[in-house]
Amino acid sequence: MGIEIVPLGESLGAEIRGVDLRKRPDKAVTSEIRAAWLEHLVLLFRGALLTDRNLIDFTLGFGDLEFPPSKLLNLAEGPRNGPKVPPEINVISNVKENGEPIGQLGASEAAWHTDSAFVEVPPAASILHALEVPPSGGNTSFLNMIAAYETLPDDLRRRIEGKRLKHDQTYTSAGDRRAGYDIVEDVREAPGPWHPAVRTHPETGRKALYLGRRMNGYVEDLSLEENEELLDAIWAHVLQPKFVWEHKWAVGDVLMWDNRCVMHRREAFDDSRRRVMHRTQLAGDRPV
Ligand SMILES: [Fe+2]
Repeated sequence: MGIEIVPLGESLGAEIRGVDLRKRPDKAVTSEIRAAWLEHLVLLFRGALLTDRNLIDFTLGFGDLEFPPSKLLNLAEGPRNGPKVPPEINVISNVKENGEPIGQLGASEAAWHTDSAFVEVPPAASILHALEVPPSGGNTSFLNMIAAYETLPDDLRRRIEGKRLKHDQTYTSAGDRRAGYDIVEDVREAPGPWHPAVRTHPETGRKALYLGRRMNGYVEDLSLEENEELLDAIWAHVLQPKFVWEHKWAVGDVLMWDNRCVMHRREAFDDSRRRVMHRTQLAGDRPV
């Protein structure tokens, strides 16, 4: 008896049924899940409230678990996990306890981004588990960057192919400037790594646009004016509904996405309502 794969979006996303994530899936099931993940780019598992241990064990089935983003940058930023939450877990939440946030990102919008594209070796996957969700808002949308690349008009493709892009580290996806980082006056001077603007997927060999985020993006060798014009044109192509699948969360949902070829955004929600997510990430490869 295999798993059941139910496609969700026109361009990406599939629900996986017939797997109980409270037990670490065996090798055969794990490889079926991996194949579905590489094909559909985002997988949804419904209805199992996992312990942090379950989530960590599930993640380890797919590769090396990596510590949360602030640790990748060696930042002291953000709330520290309380004694009940293991250090492998990145808490995404607007909830405050004793006046202190228990997690990151608050309740505002998180703009389109790739997780941690601002480090030299960004994670391959992010896995996000919903423990508490608000009655409305806070949906997460995903965007297929392989499809965006494959449909890029020829003139834009010629201008971006083979170029490197600077990925600024200064701001979080919620637009907050990280502690210790100066305001970026000139995007050419922004701190962060260079990555190829078109990357090749290390497992499937498929090419994807790799933009990180729009804010402070910079294409090598361009004047500031040319840079803004080219990035605006590429982003206008990328942000088309046909490349997007949006998920409305329910408690117990687990979403696993391919961070090498998918961007995501989170819409804002009412900050008086609780939203608590626990997240893990899989180590990735240097983009090439
Ligand atoms: Fe993210």
